[in-house]
Formats: sequence, structure tokens, C-alpha cells
Amino acid sequence: MRGAGVSVRFRRFPAFRQFFRKRRIPPPPAVIPAHSAAAAARAGLSAGVDSAGLVLRSGAPLPMKIFLTGASGLVGSAFAEAAHRRGHHVIGVVGRFPGPVPGLAQKLSLELTDPIALNTAALDLFPDAIVNCAAVPEPAACDADPARAQALNVALPTQLAQIAHHVCARFVHVSSEQVFDGTAAPYHVDSRPNPINLYGRQKLESERAVAAAARAFAATVRAPLLTGNSPTGRRSLHERLMGEWAAGRAARLYRDEIRQPCTAGNLAEVLVELCERTELLGVFHWAGAEALSRAELGRRVRAHFKLDEKSAPIEEIGREGDPAAAKRQANLTLDLQPLAGILKTQPESFEAQLDQFIVPPPCREWYHAQ
Ligand SMILES: NC(=O)c1ccc[n+]([C@@H]2O[C@H](COP(=O)([O-])OP(=O)(O)OC[C@H]3O[C@@H](n4cnc5c(N)ncnc54)[C@H](OP(=O)(O)O)[C@@H]3O)[C@@H](O)[C@H]2O)c1
Repeated sequence: MRGAGVSVRFRRFPAFRQFFRKRRIPPPPAVIPAHSAAAAARAGLSAGVDSAGLVLRSGAPLPMKIFLTGASGLVGSAFAEAAHRRGHHVIGVVGRFPGPVPGLAQKLSLELTDPIALNTAALDLFPDAIVNCAAVPEPAACDADPARAQALNVALPTQLAQIAHHVCARFVHVSSEQVFDGTAAPYHVDSRPNPINLYGRQKLESERAVAAAARAFAATVRAPLLTGNSPTGRRSLHERLMGEWAAGRAARLYRDEIRQPCTAGNLAEVLVELCERTELLGVFHWAGAEALSRAELGRRVRAHFKLDEKSAPIEEIGREGDPAAAKRQANLTLDLQPLAGILKTQPESFEAQLDQFIVPPPCREWYHAQ
């Protein structure tokens, strides 16, 4: 696979020959086209060039054509930039987001709940890797519209895994820490999942469906609460906190809920490495280097932006006696082995994460008035 396994896929899998014959399109080349030479050089990767100006496959990872879903989201947009920096060619699917997405070689607007449109787009591109960052990633949104959440959180990754298996592409899927119930942290990759909300159940179902459809191609990463800067300025931890403060509300934060956040950018680096490290298969954990209470996270964000208790109030709350706590996990600390020991990307401290946060565009006017 690694960037250029098309001809191998074509030889080994008769389904490819049928696919190309049926659609009357020429079969893929046995070598990578010449434009990849420049990309390989940009990425500092080794590749031989033959007399016809075509890049021959070598042992080193070569630039890949990556089909990315959720390219306008918090994680997907970070992935587009990270993969572009490493010389990969990313074709990204967005839903309703109208703006540009830095790092994308091509932006496609597609309704991902339409399986025919998705099949056509993915098969036409014939990617080396598929990365799924599209989802309904919030428990409340899943409860509000379970059918839409099922389509995006389960049916979509299942179909993408089937496509990956069909075209022998690497498949990287993002799952969640919320497959665990929060009563027995820290959680290792082999710990028993026990989701306590619909979102967690759907993410677990997606993990199992991906493994069933593309065991030999898939890596799934369970991600934690995410920080960083999103295209809309409304998705990540500090963006939501500042959104509350800008609206004149106190942030209600649990003092006894423990999370281990990481930036979407740091997670994206992990996802890019996983695209390249095709020998890493199955389910993995990734998070930051520190586990903190939600209240502590809020206080650290407030201090980082030099806001005071009056302009950025925090109401600390406890789980005991709170009916909402039944669907919320107390402690979702993750054990990051084996990934933390074998990837170049390292987990980041919360201090290092804070240094990357910008004032979200929707809150700038309010912030500068403080
Ligand atoms: N955010 C977190 O704290 C967190 C924590 C753990 C795990 N995760 C997981 O990480 C992954 C990425 O989450 P995220 O926070 O980056 O999500 P996000 O910011 O909400 O982005 C979701 C993406 O999905 C796209 N999308 C949604 N419905 C679509 C549709 N019907 N057709 C086409 N595109 C559609 C959105 O496109 P448009 O915006 O253009 O419509 C957007 O690009 C998910 O698997 C999530 O479960 C997230």
C-alpha cells in the first residue's frame, strides 16, 4: 500500500480489474506518476525516478493520495494541514462549511449520508488511504437525532472500511474515549468497553464494524476531549468556554470529572503517522500527557488568556446528586501504550497545548473589550 500500492492491488485483487473494466477507465499505472517526484522531494522522502520520468516505488514512505472525510471539522482540518506538511495529497470532504480548508489539494462538498455519492467519489479517486474524521461527535446531538448520528457515526465508517478493503487502501478511523464508562480508569486498549450513552455505543459499534470490514487495513484511534483551534472557532474546549463567557454566562464545570485532553493538531500528527505505518492495525489510544478535572482545565484556560473571575466566571459543580451525571463518565484517563512508545509524535502537556490556543474569531470583539 504505502503510497503507491496500486499496481499490487490491481494484480492481487480481481475486483479492481472488474471495477476499471466496468467503468471503461484505464487501469492505474504500475509506477507512481512523475508529479509525485516533487512531492517526495518536498517531504524529504526517497524515491527513484526512471527514464520515463516516473517515480519508482522504494522502501521509504511515499506521498499518498488521501481521501479525508470531515475536512472542515476540528480534527479533519488539523489533519489536512499535518498531512500536507508531510507531502501528502489530501482530497477532503466537507459538508456545509463554506470556507477554504488550508492543506487540502481539493475540497469536495458531499452529503456523507448518501452512500451512492460516497462510493462514487471514493472509488473515482482510488485513494492510497482513507481517513474518517466526520461524525456527530457530541452526546447531546446524538440523543437529539439518533438516526442521523447512526448514519454518520456507524454507517459511514462501515462503508468507508468496506471501500478501503475493496481498493486495498489504508483506513484510519477516529473513535472516542467515551466507549468506556469512566469507573475504572486508566483504560488500556484491551480494557473492556462499556459505553453509558448513545454516542459511546455508536463509536464502539463503529470500531467493531471497521474491524470486521477491513481488519487488514484499519487503525482506529480512541481520542480524548480535544483542544485546539477549529475552522469555525466554536468546537474545541477553549472555544466553547470562551463562547459561554462572551455570551455573559458562567461556565458550569465538574470538579470531579477527569479528562486527558490533547490538541487536534497533535492527534492529527498521530493520524498521519498511522497512514504511513500500515503495519499498525487495530484499536489504539491517544491523549495528552496530563489528566485534569474539567474545573481545573477551565481555570487554566482563563488564566492563560489573562481573564478574571468577573469577566470569565466558572461555576464549579459536582457529579453527586446531578441527574446528568448518569450519562457522563467520571474519569476517562487513557493508557497510551503501545502508540506512545512507537510513534515519533509525543503526547503534549496541557501547558504546551495552551500555548497553541488563539482567541476564537467569534469571541474576538468581546475579548478585546475586556
Ligand atoms: N471533538 C472532540 O472533543 C472529540 C473527542 C473524541 C473523539 N472525537 C472524534 O473525532 C472525530 C472528529 O471530531 P471533530 O470534533 O473534529 O468533529 P467536528 O468538528 O464536529 O467535525 C465534523 C465534521 O463532519 C462533517 N459532517 C458532519 N455531517 C456531515 C454530512 N452529513 N455530510 C458531510 N460532512 C458531514 C462536518 O462537515 P461540515 O461542518 O462542513 O458540515 C465536519 O467536517 C469524530 O470521530 C469524533 O467522534 C472528537
